[in-house]
Amino acid sequence: MAPEPRCRICGDAVVEFLDFGTQPLSDAFRDPGDTAEEFTYRLAVGRCGTCGMVQLTEEVPREEMFHEEYPYLSRGSSVMREHFRSLAERFLTTELSGDDAFIVELGCNDGTMLKTVAEAGVRHLGVEPSGAVADLAAEEGVRVRKDFFEEATALDIVAAEGQADVIYAANTLCHIPYMSSILRGVTALLRPEGVFVFEDPYLGDIVERTSFDQIYDEHFFLFSASSVDEMARRHDLELVDVERLPVHGGEVRYTLARPGARKRGAAVEELLAEERGRGLGDLAVLERFAERVREVRDDLVALLTRLRAEGHRIVGYGATAKSATVTNFCGIGPDLVEFVCDTTPAKQHKLTPGSHIPVRPPEVFSDDYPPYALLFAWNHADEIMAKEQAFREAGGRWIRYVPDVHVV
Ligand code: SAH
Ligand code: TYD
Repeated sequence: MAPEPRCRICGDAVVEFLDFGTQPLSDAFRDPGDTAEEFTYRLAVGRCGTCGMVQLTEEVPREEMFHEEYPYLSRGSSVMREHFRSLAERFLTTELSGDDAFIVELGCNDGTMLKTVAEAGVRHLGVEPSGAVADLAAEEGVRVRKDFFEEATALDIVAAEGQADVIYAANTLCHIPYMSSILRGVTALLRPEGVFVFEDPYLGDIVERTSFDQIYDEHFFLFSASSVDEMARRHDLELVDVERLPVHGGEVRYTLARPGARKRGAAVEELLAEERGRGLGDLAVLERFAERVREVRDDLVALLTRLRAEGHRIVGYGATAKSATVTNFCGIGPDLVEFVCDTTPAKQHKLTPGSHIPVRPPEVFSDDYPPYALLFAWNHADEIMAKEQAFREAGGRWIRYVPDVHVV
């Protein structure tokens, strides 16, 4: 029997509430001729009975996920480019407006956020273990350290460059199971008045929208205000602000500071109260979410199977990491979805992990529109639907599965 999962925040027992079974790595796109066995792990999610943190019950070694060929690019969405540019501008006029200001970004990826900071001539450092994307950041004029952030990295940065006014992480902190080391590192690296700001998919939105595809190897934690509040307290930090964000299907931006260093904003109490009101941390609520996930799976498979039986072509849109959970949990392969189109060069001409659906450049989609497109990149729906109007005008219809299965 597998050992009982222990919470990566407080060490107590994690109670599982949803099991996706055996899954491949979500960003391990595969060469068509490759016959090697794929790396798999068991994807299941649970909640700590003591500190309330929702987390995966099994951990994938970090080097399996983040390496030279890690394909994800922050620059793949114009909405996200603007999101990061405007946040960088905000930092430049607030936290980074003083003399010799310094910002460290964890998981800077291709430099989409730090580029604006670099252009303003403000001292910065990106910490990014995935080699190819880190090189792209350097090409943008961003200073990058190719490394995993953890306590030792933080101590090294402090020794060489001093403490930071801002430590920032987007869609990265939730990827990191070794949280004690991270938060010890943050505490060492942060100036006394500095802020640690991070934004990640929000458990509240995931439960409300049944967006179960936010659960995969790289998303180890599903944060909420109450679990982050508790996590901060246990690491001698304080949650001082929260901000709901519309990006990536619903996120929260959390601001942590040393206890007493900043006044706690009213938004924190408001979100904590809202979470209590809806019972977000209750196991019964999470178990109902798990039931709805299985319903969405059954509805989606039934719809795709019927459309295929009627002779319709179906093409996937966006070879997202998220879609690995959808295709592998639902058993969707090339028999149901002909190919998936995607703008990311490192994904094109490969096969999706586990489900082995070919990935093609977007031109293959527009050259011969199918009647149905399954929107895997649903978190970029507005951007994609705006640019793919010709698909609709040609009679094409979108299949969506968040918050439920429907055709538009
Ligand atoms: N911040 C970007 C990228 C998110 S993808 C955005 O929001 O678009 C997550 C990134 O975190 C990847 O580029 C991955 O290589 C990086 N990462 C994973 N573990 C890390 C760690 N311990 N320290 C720093 N970066 C890490
Ligand atoms: P995203 O949903 O941002 O993240 P994840 O991979 O973590 O689930 O991924 C979006 C994917 O969709 C990415 O591979 C780029 C692709 N994409 C397109 O092909 N066209 C588009 O217009 C957009 C916005 C994204």
